[in-house]
Amino acid sequence: MTTPTKAILTFDNGAAPIELPVQAGTYGPDVIDIRALNQHGYLTYDPGFMSTASCTSGISFIDGEAGVLYYRGYPIEQLVQHADFLEVAWLLLFGELPLPAEKADFSQQVRRNAMLHDQINNVFRGFRRDAHPMAVMVGVTGAMSAFYHDSSDVFDAASRVQTAVHLIGKVPTIAAMSYKYNMGEPFVYPQYQLGYAENFLHMMFSTPCESYEVNPVLARALDRIFILHADHEQNASTSTVRLAGSSGANPYACIAAGMASLWGPLHGGANEAVLKMLAEIGDVSRIPEFIERAKDKQNPFRLMGFGHRIYKNMDPRAAFMRQTCHEVLEELDLVDDPLFRIALELERIALQDEYFIARKLYPNVDFYSGIVFRALGIPPSMFTAIFALARTVGWVAQWNEMLADSSHRIGRPRQHYNGATRRDYVPEHLRGA
Ligand code: ACO
Repeated sequence: MTTPTKAILTFDNGAAPIELPVQAGTYGPDVIDIRALNQHGYLTYDPGFMSTASCTSGISFIDGEAGVLYYRGYPIEQLVQHADFLEVAWLLLFGELPLPAEKADFSQQVRRNAMLHDQINNVFRGFRRDAHPMAVMVGVTGAMSAFYHDSSDVFDAASRVQTAVHLIGKVPTIAAMSYKYNMGEPFVYPQYQLGYAENFLHMMFSTPCESYEVNPVLARALDRIFILHADHEQNASTSTVRLAGSSGANPYACIAAGMASLWGPLHGGANEAVLKMLAEIGDVSRIPEFIERAKDKQNPFRLMGFGHRIYKNMDPRAAFMRQTCHEVLEELDLVDDPLFRIALELERIALQDEYFIARKLYPNVDFYSGIVFRALGIPPSMFTAIFALARTVGWVAQWNEMLADSSHRIGRPRQHYNGATRRDYVPEHLRGA
């Protein structure tokens, strides 16, 4: 069927119909442009934005039914196999794969921006040692706005690129420092000569007494995980960054807002929750009991790492995460890891269960990432921090795209008000009388 040019909204009270333009995208559903609707005294109602395209974007595309994810048109499968993370970062930011010289220059700029202002150390020291690393990351990234406020002009394209390079370079350092602070270990400075993932592992696991020997297989696995998490269309955290940034707010504060959203257990916090759930299951014999709990509508328990708002057949990232999980466990001689065995069996049983089939609930990217991180020696409290590190690229690319669009306006949703009608104030002594 061809794309219609307009949709006509009719009413059952005899009011004049309203014509709304229809626009086709490169892929995905056509959109009905409802911008003129409020001039007619109507709003649309769409809690959770299930049927709302909040912006026009050319960065990533998801087809949930087909299990497809493209970054700038390139299938995620090809990027994860052939590209490295900073190449993907360039692609997401600028729209094309970099030329060799562009890639080399960009990698160098990102690496050379990994160090933080020395006074940031003092910001860390204000937190309790046992604070969750995501709480520290949200706080410290937000605090970076105090260090780079006057120097960043969000309405200048070159300044936005500089900010993007700063953020991509510095967020891994913030993440690793959040871990070190939590562990009570000294901060480890970045090493400019190391690759992006290698440097992160170095900052996490080296100490002033001993340098960490980075295993290239593990560094590559981590780099792939970064690629898989780099961008994902208008999810909750990306939409948060766009909404916060739409007012021209400081980009570090906007990225901190995105991190806060990502931290929730229904979003990026799921991989931490998966590992806790696998540990709680403890043995394959208990899997049926947990599946029954997940199906019981009186029980709030959900099978963590299952289901996705958009992917209703399979999450293409999950297949690679599963493969990466195998590779890492083999490299570390951990193939008999009990949690991995529970995960495989849980996946097998759930995928045969009518409840999960009917609701199209499949493992998502977070189902296996926790097991990989655990094998790398990364504690559960750092899982979402690593997701945030990778997603920073997508957030800045989306933020930059929004501000580069001359038609962009401050985000300002409306509401369907169902509160009290107008009433007069009642003095305290007359209330309840
Ligand atoms: N376990 C059991 N039942 C589930 C699960 C689950 N993990 N996920 C959804 N369902 C059920 C719901 O109870 C509902 O059942 P009903 O129709 O009988 O009422 C149905 O499936 C649809 O669920 P919704 O909540 O409406 O789906 P939605 O698209 O709003 O939620 C979400 C998607 C939040 C990811 C959900 O599947 C979930 O909570 N999953 C577990 C958390 C998780 O893994 N999050 C990571 C997402 S990926 C990411 O952020 C990178």
